[in-house]
Amino acid sequence: MSEHTHGLQHGLTNYGDRDFSLYLRRSFAQSMGYSRALLSKPVVGIAYTPSGFNNCHRHFPELLDAVKRGVLAAGALPIAFPTISLGEVFLSPTSLKYRNLMSIDTEEMIRAQPMDAVVLMGGCDKTVPAQLMGAVSAGRPAVMLVAGPMMTGRHRGERLGACTDCRRFWARYRAGEVAEAEISQVEGQLAVTAGTCAVMGTASTMACIAEALGLILPGSAAIPAVHADRLRAAEATGAAAVRLIGSERTADRIVNAKSVENALRALLALGGSTNAVIHLTAIAGRAGVKVSLDDLNRLSDSTPVLVNLKPVGNGYMEDFFAAGAMGALLRELKPLLHLECMTVTGETLGERLASAAAYVDRSIIAEREKPFEPQGGLVALFGNLAPKGAVLKRSAADAKLFEHEGRAVVFSSLADLAARIDDPALDVTPQDVLVLQNAGPHARACMPEAGYLPIPKKLAQRGVKDMIRISDARMSGTAYGTIVLHVTPDAASGGPLGLVRSGDRIRLSVKQRRIDLLVEDAELKARAAALKPAPMQPERGYAKLYAQEILGADEGCDFAFLRPATGLP
Ligand code: FES
Repeated sequence: MSEHTHGLQHGLTNYGDRDFSLYLRRSFAQSMGYSRALLSKPVVGIAYTPSGFNNCHRHFPELLDAVKRGVLAAGALPIAFPTISLGEVFLSPTSLKYRNLMSIDTEEMIRAQPMDAVVLMGGCDKTVPAQLMGAVSAGRPAVMLVAGPMMTGRHRGERLGACTDCRRFWARYRAGEVAEAEISQVEGQLAVTAGTCAVMGTASTMACIAEALGLILPGSAAIPAVHADRLRAAEATGAAAVRLIGSERTADRIVNAKSVENALRALLALGGSTNAVIHLTAIAGRAGVKVSLDDLNRLSDSTPVLVNLKPVGNGYMEDFFAAGAMGALLRELKPLLHLECMTVTGETLGERLASAAAYVDRSIIAEREKPFEPQGGLVALFGNLAPKGAVLKRSAADAKLFEHEGRAVVFSSLADLAARIDDPALDVTPQDVLVLQNAGPHARACMPEAGYLPIPKKLAQRGVKDMIRISDARMSGTAYGTIVLHVTPDAASGGPLGLVRSGDRIRLSVKQRRIDLLVEDAELKARAAALKPAPMQPERGYAKLYAQEILGADEGCDFAFLRPATGLP
C-alpha cells in the first residue's frame, strides 16, 4: 500500500500496523456505500451544525447538499461530521459558556479525522467564533460558510427583524404602550425564516468579520439565508475547499496581525456588535495575535461608521445585501486596510477589491467622505472602575449621556436585578447610573447578555428611553442604549466594579475614554478588605473546566490552555 497521506489515509487509527489500519478504514467506509474510486479522492470534511435547538441553522440540510455538490464537482469527496451547535436563545445560562467547548470539539474533530480541508458551517452568534477558533488552532486549510441572515417579517405595515425590534416592542410593552394582544402578534413576526438575526447583531457582525479576515468567500457574508445565492455560495464554498487542499492557506496563517486589524476596521465601520470585540480577541489569540482595547480606540478614531443598519441605523441585513454588502464597505475602507492580506481564495484583499463596485445603495453604505458618523461605532473606556477596560457602543447610545456624572443604583447580581428593577419603591431617577455586578465571565452567570438592563418600569412609564448602565456582562448585538459593558476585571474576579455601592458617584466621559468611581482610594481599599468573594467552584464536568480556565473579556474569554503554547506578545 502507498505511503500517501491524503484523504482517508490521513491520520490513521493506531492499531500498530499502518496498512491494516487503512484496509480497515476503507472497509468500514465502504459500508456507507462509497465506491473505491471515491474513497481514493482527497477528502473535504464539513463541520455541520444543524440542531433542533438552533432555529438559525434550520436550512443547513439544503446548504449541505450544495456544499457537497461543489466538493464533488471539484474532484474531492465531501464528508460531513457533526459538532456541537449553539442556538443562542436555547442555552442556559448563556451561549458564551459553551463557545470554547464548541471550539474544542471543532478543533479536535478537524485534527482527529481524515480530511485534507474543511468547510465550517456556522451562523448563530457563538458558532462562527467557535468554529474559527477551532480551525485556527487545528491549522488545516479551512473555509467558512455562514448561515446568512433571516428575512424581515411584517406587522401592521412595518418591517420587523430579530432582534432589535424584539427589544423595541418589549420596551414599549413594559411602558404600557403596546397591549398584550399586540405583543403576541409581534412575537410571531420577529423571526420568520431560517437564518441568523436580521440586523447587524453579533451573528451578522461575525459573518462580516469572517469576510474581512478573508475566511469566507467574497460577497457571501450578507446573502440572506433563504436566497438562491446562498445555495450558490455554498456550492462555491465546497469547490473553494477543494482548491485549498495542499495550499498554505490555513486559518492560522490567514488570521494575522494585519488581517485582524482589517477586521477591527470593518467592525468599527459596521457599527457592529460589542460581542465581536471578545470573539475577535479570542480568534486572534489562537493565532498568537494580541488585540488590545487601546488598538480599538486608535482604530476607532480614524474609522467612520459607514453602515446604516439596526440597531445603529435603520436598515436590515437584506438591505445591506442589496446595497453592495461587504464588497462595497471594504472598497470604501480600502485606504485604511492592509491590502496585501491573503484570503482563502488565494487572492489578496487588494486583488479582490481591485475592480469598482457595480452598485452601491448610499442610503445603506455611505462613502467614506460622507459617513453616517465620523468615528467608529465602538469605544473602549478605562478608569478606576475598569482598569483593564470596558466597551461602549457609542453609535447605539444617546450622545446626551456621553459626559455625565450620576448616582449609582447597584444590583449585586442578576437575581437582585430581577427582584428589584421594577419595584415601585426603587430609589432611582433618570440621571442615575444603573450598575449590575457579578455578571462577568468569572461569575456563575458566565457573562450573559444582561448588560442591557431594563429601564426601571416606573421610569419607562414616564417615557425614559435611555440611562447609563454599567456592568461586567455582555449585550446582545441587536440592543442599543448608553451601556458600558465588559468591565474588566469583573466583579467576581475581584474587580473594582464589585466595590460600588448605591449612592456612590460615577463619572462617564466618552471624550476622555474614562469611566470612574468617584470614591476615595482608602474607602475602596476598606471595602475590598471587607469583601468576601465567592468564586464559583463547580465540583465536576465542563463547569469545573470553565471555572478553572476562563480568561477575562480583555483576553477574549478564551480558556488559558487553548491559547498557543508560545503565548501572546
Ligand atoms: Fe441565532 Fe440571533 S439567535 S443569530
